[in-house]
Amino acid sequence: MTNKRAGFATRMGAIAASVGSAVGLGNIWRFPYEAGQNGGGAFILVYILCVLALGIPVMLSEFVIGRSTHKSMLGALRQLNPGGKARWFTAVCIIGSVVTLSFYSVVCGWVCEYLYLALSGQLSGHTAEQYGEIFSSFTASPWRCVGWTVLFLIVNYAVMLRGVQRGIERLSRVLMPLLFVLLVVFCINSLLMPKCREGLAFMFSVDFSHFTFRGAVDALGQAFMSLSLGIACLITYSSYFNDNTSLIHDAGVIALLDTLVALLAGVVIFPAVFSYGFQPEAGPKLVFEVLPAIFQQMPGGAVWCVLFFVLLLFASLTSTISLSEISLTHLIEEHSMSRRGATLCSGTVVTVLAVVCALSFNVLGDVKAFGMNIFDLLNYASSNFFMLLGGIFTAVFVGWFANRALVREQLTIGASPLARALVPCVLFCMRYVAPVAIVLIFLHYVGLI
Ligand code: PHE
Repeated sequence: MTNKRAGFATRMGAIAASVGSAVGLGNIWRFPYEAGQNGGGAFILVYILCVLALGIPVMLSEFVIGRSTHKSMLGALRQLNPGGKARWFTAVCIIGSVVTLSFYSVVCGWVCEYLYLALSGQLSGHTAEQYGEIFSSFTASPWRCVGWTVLFLIVNYAVMLRGVQRGIERLSRVLMPLLFVLLVVFCINSLLMPKCREGLAFMFSVDFSHFTFRGAVDALGQAFMSLSLGIACLITYSSYFNDNTSLIHDAGVIALLDTLVALLAGVVIFPAVFSYGFQPEAGPKLVFEVLPAIFQQMPGGAVWCVLFFVLLLFASLTSTISLSEISLTHLIEEHSMSRRGATLCSGTVVTVLAVVCALSFNVLGDVKAFGMNIFDLLNYASSNFFMLLGGIFTAVFVGWFANRALVREQLTIGASPLARALVPCVLFCMRYVAPVAIVLIFLHYVGLI
């Protein structure tokens, strides 16, 4: 290491923490409803292409920046490109992370409420329709929404106070595999449902007749959200990686596991959507209506339900920890704040915004911009604006402006022959696919596509 920052104790620790950041509500809550709203199979196919053509190259760009400098974003960018516009880019990433954290922690609050309902036995014995009512009556209550959100954030920032290694590494290493096993069990259960075929056909039969360009932008945004890209989160994490691991290999493992979890979540949800008569395009509430209905008909459903929400909560926590780390590392390293001061400072801003988001289902329900309430707006802006633009600019930066020899060296260190063979592909995506994507997205936003 080039300076005295703490590193991850083991290579597995670094990968586990990055997977911990990637796997979260994005996979289990957001992916199924985005796929549901965008017609299923076509969205999922485009999503996978986005992961391969842009997700992995952008992830590698962040890894190259973080690992080659062992600094957080601003210091890293300054070192790689002195005189560049590092400050602006950093500001956008930090705003992106705060925006993401604020709507994300509201959904974490929903998970807390559902865990409470499951523990107190209030989630069993209802009809599909009643599960819909449970969700709407909860989100209609400002106190409950705000209370759980704030409680979650307090826990999140308490973990942050303990520092990188102990807090993050330990949590994610034990809990991620357990969540994975649980999802596999639920998949098997869903595959035995009466309308399993319809569910799988919805997910895997590709029909582009209703697929729009907006659907493609959503798929790309979802890929970036799910892989934790575009807001320098993985720059910060990879600044703790050690110097001899293969970045291509690690990026491949992280992307594969993350995509697998999202697909598993889809296989759990969609057979149940069709079997119980839910609407695939129900939006953000989809998973919260469907999951309790699934547990209800499983043997020992109440126990599965509690276990699942506990693990989902931890998966979300490892993601919010990585989101919080972005602004904390910045405040500590660039503004010489103490960890405590930085936690207090960024915690306050995020909590205020999160409370506003939580209120957008009730008290502030009428406040709308671009036809969306505040929660939907931040949810949309986070992936389809901050992460997309941030991520693609990162790829363009590494592809065109960083020292080419250094980039090549970073991509080839420790690489197997296969990974080495992929280096030209990765560079091609960074240099050409990323800029084309940016132009298309820009044309979409100004209404020309
Ligand atoms: N990838 C996380 C998820 O899927 C969310 C996240 C985004 C975390 C960006 C960190 C940074 O839930």
